[in-house]
Amino acid sequence: MSATRAVIDLDLPGARISRHLYGHFAEHLGRCIYGGFWVGEDSPIPNIRGIRTDVVEALRALQIPNLRWPGGCFADEYHWRDGVGPREERPTMVNTHWGNVVEDNSFGTHEFLDLCELLGADPYISANVGSGSVREMREWVDYLTGVGASPMTNLRRANGREEPWKVPFWGVGNESWGCGGNMRAEAYADLARQYATYCRDHGDNKLYRIAAGANSDDYSWTETLMRTIGGCGKGPLQGISLHYYTIAGDWDDKGHATDFSLDEYYATLAKANKIDELLRRHSTVMDMFDPCGKVGLVLDEWGTWWNVADGTNPGFLYQQNTIRDALVASLHFDTFHRHAKRLTMANIAQTVNVLQAMILTDPDTNALVRTPTYHVFEMNTAHHDADSLAVHLLDAPTRDDISMVSASASTKDGTALISLSNLDAEESRPIVLDLRGREVSGHTARILSAKTPQAHNTPANPDAVAPQAFEGVTAHPAGLQLELPPHSYVTVSVTLS
Ligand code: AHR
Repeated sequence: MSATRAVIDLDLPGARISRHLYGHFAEHLGRCIYGGFWVGEDSPIPNIRGIRTDVVEALRALQIPNLRWPGGCFADEYHWRDGVGPREERPTMVNTHWGNVVEDNSFGTHEFLDLCELLGADPYISANVGSGSVREMREWVDYLTGVGASPMTNLRRANGREEPWKVPFWGVGNESWGCGGNMRAEAYADLARQYATYCRDHGDNKLYRIAAGANSDDYSWTETLMRTIGGCGKGPLQGISLHYYTIAGDWDDKGHATDFSLDEYYATLAKANKIDELLRRHSTVMDMFDPCGKVGLVLDEWGTWWNVADGTNPGFLYQQNTIRDALVASLHFDTFHRHAKRLTMANIAQTVNVLQAMILTDPDTNALVRTPTYHVFEMNTAHHDADSLAVHLLDAPTRDDISMVSASASTKDGTALISLSNLDAEESRPIVLDLRGREVSGHTARILSAKTPQAHNTPANPDAVAPQAFEGVTAHPAGLQLELPPHSYVTVSVTLS
């Protein structure tokens, strides 16, 4: 079998890969906030001011750059004033979108900002357009970031926070074409301009205002939005979002998280691979209205979406996570790195206990499990804020026109990180890394794989899928060589001299 050659010019860096491409999303949905992040100060589960200590510690290894909150669809039903002030006085509401459970508002603005500080993540607040008002949004910005004496900054101080927080990212509505108001693009685009106008920069806090963008391949939404908000730094918004989920089947039967056939495995990877086309085509539309490249594309919801786990609340979107999910993640990251110029931010849905989570917590034993997807995020931290390097693949086998090898690379601080995925579920794949332009003085490698693509972690077997040191990288006249096992993800870190 002839090897696949990956040609990399180590001395020709491309666009900077913003660390914000590794962002996260935590919604008031199922057990993401309640039970996942938040257990309350009186819980027997070890916590820091009510936030689970083990969850924070596990997530710190991922160097989460930003966290989006409080939704999702929940954002357009959320009224922030309900979630500030003494907890015992906060009103309850019913989370009509997600399971009709009672929301007691014990996790609100101050708790979220505390969580961000514990994680070292920048807050990304997604605010209510669908059922809110311009005034409500304007006042939330003032409450969070305002300086001087205003009714909102005084309220913040009365609630125990003297200094304004830094809030760099601000979402103006969510899925306004659907759960965020079922609006026409024209109607929403006008509202986005209006709302964004009143989301002021206070003091030295500069907001990056993100309009609710398209679903999947709705290029017409992007076109209307871009035409209306304007490009080249002239309009009141700095970014537009995009949502794209990977499913194996259709929305009525999305597929089982762990019990899937090889056909479903390949169908999933083909759907994940579509992200490249989506980013290219949405970028083309944005180029037409913003040739200066000032408006960022923000993929603030992505990931796998399976049928909910048996016996769980259908409104809670709880699912397991296998090697297949890890490869969906690695494929997305390779694509993000190639689009690092226009794509300024991305947020996987969601961080804990919902959809393609990093962490699953057991509701009975409270045990914490790191998922295969968690490990891909951790293995990729050296890509954060690194300069992308183009990877040219020669002789990569294909299946249904999809390359069975996915790769990307970046360089930072005298090293290069090369990410390699073998999507072939049955065949291993020899690879030659043809490294040009710089001398390489050393290397280390890690691998994430398991016997089957269905392998996953459980409280009883939490490390069934976990990264291992990979000793199979050896010298080759062109650079290095290795053999990727079936359904595996490998990172090779090379020292440049
Ligand atoms: O992430 C789950 C849901 O998916 C979000 O609330 C919504 O924005 C999207 O439809």
